[in-house]
Amino acid sequence: MDRKDIDNLLDKIEQFRAEKLQDVEELRVKLLGKKGEITRLFEEFRSVAPEMKREFGKVLNELKTKAAEKIESLRESFEDILDTDTKTDFTKPGDAFELGTRHPISLVREEILDIFGRFGFAVAEGPEIEDDWHVFSALNFPPEHPARDMQDTFFINPAGDDPILLRTHTSSVQVRTMERQKPPIRVVCPGRVFRNEAISARAHCIFHQVEGLYIDEGVSFADLKQAILLFVQEMFGPQTQIRMRPSYFPFTEPSTEVDISCNICGGKGCNICKGTGWLEIMGAGMVDPNVLEASGIDSTKYTGFAFGMGIERIAMLKWMVNDLRHYFENDARFLKEFRSVL
Ligand code: DAH
Repeated sequence: MDRKDIDNLLDKIEQFRAEKLQDVEELRVKLLGKKGEITRLFEEFRSVAPEMKREFGKVLNELKTKAAEKIESLRESFEDILDTDTKTDFTKPGDAFELGTRHPISLVREEILDIFGRFGFAVAEGPEIEDDWHVFSALNFPPEHPARDMQDTFFINPAGDDPILLRTHTSSVQVRTMERQKPPIRVVCPGRVFRNEAISARAHCIFHQVEGLYIDEGVSFADLKQAILLFVQEMFGPQTQIRMRPSYFPFTEPSTEVDISCNICGGKGCNICKGTGWLEIMGAGMVDPNVLEASGIDSTKYTGFAFGMGIERIAMLKWMVNDLRHYFENDARFLKEFRSVL
């Protein structure tokens, strides 16, 4: 008996690779079968000199254990494959790939931009973190105006001449557009706005607005009225009427608040419109000459109109959602309701 033969055999066992279960069985026969190599070594062992028996006995036993272990582990690896093969039903239909849904605020935002896009309005955006100038001063807010108060505005840095704050409306983008561009200007400005309000069904500290601005020579209140009427009829249906109530905003003169005929009761009066037949949807007006001048536009040559609406408000009226908080909680049961809306 030669020690080298044993070592060679050990190497062979270690390096053996099986491609199929049959290879494993062949290995077993070759090593441990009646005429197998290990069986033969054990037979030879009987005639080993007594003083060598101890050494050879030990290595032979190790060899046999190794071989048995190798065969067992190879067998197991094939059993795993066999197992899954029999359990997998390849004829079964695949799992459906579940599509997400678009958020209702995105849907309404896109619809508003699309309608005004067809009227020739481009989209303009601006920063959410703003300075006092773009949110208030350039829009003709007097220094003591209550909207500048900490109670309404989230300040990042309230100190200094031009405090840094979270914009409270998207009218700031009007200013940025007028600073950048010469008339004619026709833009809609969608975006997130922030106000220091307690969260309830009717108020939130974060919401979304779309601002509109049209500046050119000879733009009149009649243009404003027609643009809004066309918009609401596209958005809420051709039967929709508008009503304009006089109002006040620092950046427009004259200013108006616009109502639409209640699309739920058709103007007869219901609990959504609180019996009035009308629902408020936006603020609007003719751009104040001071606002044009603050951004370097000649107010003797140009006039313009502006409007601003809350996207959540439009979405609530469109789908009769009675709690604003639904839009921010990302409850999948709510969001899936909009699956069929494109
Ligand atoms: N910025 C106003 C707000 O946040 C909305 C608004 C009113 C915008 C009248 C306008 C406007 O452009 O003309 O409440």
